[in-house]
Amino acid sequence: MMRLLEFYTLESLDFSKLMEVYRESNEDNVSYFYPEETDLDKGRHLVEQKFYDYLKTGFYNKLGNRYYVLEDNGEWLSAIRLFPVEGKENTFFAEALETMPSQRRKGYARKMMELLFEKLGSEGFFEITDTVNKSNEASLRFHLNCGFEIFKDPACCVLNGNVDEKAFTMRYVGNLVAVTSDIEKYAAFARKINADRDYSQTLLDSSKNA
Ligand SMILES: CC(C)(COP(=O)(O)OP(=O)(O)OC[C@H]1O[C@@H](n2cnc3c(N)ncnc32)[C@H](O)[C@@H]1OP(=O)(O)O)[C@@H](O)C(=O)NCCC(=O)NCCS
Repeated sequence: MMRLLEFYTLESLDFSKLMEVYRESNEDNVSYFYPEETDLDKGRHLVEQKFYDYLKTGFYNKLGNRYYVLEDNGEWLSAIRLFPVEGKENTFFAEALETMPSQRRKGYARKMMELLFEKLGSEGFFEITDTVNKSNEASLRFHLNCGFEIFKDPACCVLNGNVDEKAFTMRYVGNLVAVTSDIEKYAAFARKINADRDYSQTLLDSSKNA
């Protein structure tokens, strides 16, 4: 059964399963962080250690930060991490969205986002922004496909104000459907009240005063 897992602590997270999801980007990062390293396996382990240290001393040092993982029959398929934005209720910055390389283009990241939207939207309005490189066509198409919009060009991170000319800030505003249907409900209610009221008398009264 497919489900969305939520992790508020590093201890609760199965780090080696998470690293399988990020295997490709970790391998890509070897030449970036350890250009001298020629052994790819060794390099990958160094990058994984760096990843672990970041989660321990950075990401999980902030209360409310959490990881989400899409799991199917024990297999971890896609992951994303969320930072609540200080002082803004139900507003999040997202980072490190990734699907395990062998499982791409099967709808898993979209499924994860749908479950996440459901979870965050259960209490009403929510907003997610993230930064996507303009050259990352798969990610841009993915975001648009999930209902994100291009919100800022160039990107400007809501957490620290960092501007990135090579990226967009993408934004998803949740629970608009519920809001819209509420507006519809109130509009219908207002129409009914107005229809029930006899305005001719009010108009006559006001013209008398004029
Ligand atoms: C972006 C990423 C997370 C998408 O994950 P995924 O599980 O493959 O995506 P899905 O299968 O749920 O795709 C949903 C929709 O997104 C779009 N999409 C996803 N990958 C795409 C690609 N390579 N090219 C074009 N459109 C793509 C499509 O509209 C797709 O729907 P469709 O398959 O019915 O046409 C994945 O490509 C990935 O991990 N990339 C490497 C890491 C990365 O760049 N992360 C984003 C950082 S901002």
